[in-house]
Amino acid sequence: MTATQGRFAGKTALVTGAASGIGRAITERLIAEGARVAGGDLNKEGLAELADIHGDAFAQVVCDVTSEADCEMLVSLAVARFGRLDTAFNVAGGNRSGYLLDQPEEDWQFTIDLCLKSVFLGVKQQARQMVRGARGGSIVNIASLNAHVPMYAGAAYATAKAGVEMLTKNAALEFADYGVRVNAILPGLVETPLTRRHFDNADALAAFVERIPQRRPAQPTEIAAPSLYLASDDASYVNGASLLVDGAWAVSGYPDMRPFCGPVQFNG
Ligand SMILES: NC(=O)c1ccc[n+]([C@@H]2O[C@H](COP(=O)([O-])OP(=O)(O)OC[C@H]3O[C@@H](n4cnc5c(N)ncnc54)[C@H](O)[C@@H]3O)[C@@H](O)[C@H]2O)c1
Repeated sequence: MTATQGRFAGKTALVTGAASGIGRAITERLIAEGARVAGGDLNKEGLAELADIHGDAFAQVVCDVTSEADCEMLVSLAVARFGRLDTAFNVAGGNRSGYLLDQPEEDWQFTIDLCLKSVFLGVKQQARQMVRGARGGSIVNIASLNAHVPMYAGAAYATAKAGVEMLTKNAALEFADYGVRVNAILPGLVETPLTRRHFDNADALAAFVERIPQRRPAQPTEIAAPSLYLASDDASYVNGASLLVDGAWAVSGYPDMRPFCGPVQFNG
């Protein structure tokens, strides 16, 4: 498929956290499908690398998604360079982990600001532009399986991600009259710099994989593909939805009874 034949030909997209991991995979897939992308991130080098590879299809700005002025600047960049904004992906995130009994207030606030406040600010500024443009639009927020499942030392992160899921639903409700759809992706374990410490520790990785029925983590491209689906016209009636992309992890809470009732088999 050539870029101009893609689902996003002639469209302008915005991606936060574009320099790394899931945001980078979304950016690259968007460009492959014909979009022009405005990418924002704190990581200057990662952005510059994407600009070198993708030339005029990629506009970049170093920005902090916890700042409303920066979120507005990223929207302005998309419009100034490409004339419009059709779709936005709020991907930037991270975590200062810590057990509740000892977690410093500033670490809690850092994580809530980075994972939740940023999505509020992003959605607000992106939707304002889409309403001004009067062509509708679509927004995809990257939450997490942790929106549904708590984790040790992850109270702030899981709380923020649960907030992203509800914020997504509330935004879908409020923007529907303007033709702006808002959906969330809830990834399980994805191999990115954010999770590198789990991949560098064979025992930790084995503990994860043990819980995932597909028996492996995802690659960032496997999160990008369903994210683009939600953003595309293929999902024109999908609105306020949460899509788990987790290798069936969320449905694996029940004990594994196969040792007692036999392996899954086909007797046809
Ligand atoms: N990797 C996983 O297993 C996983 C699972 C579920 C959800 N997620 C979520 O996916 C999103 C992307 O994570 P990833 O795994 O690709 O991580 P990553 O670390 O590879 O990428 C995150 C990007 O966000 C940028 N960023 C951080 N703080 C920022 C700020 N204040 N302003 C602008 N940019 C900032 C970083 O520089 C980085 O480029 C996050 O929201 C994360 O919580 C990841």
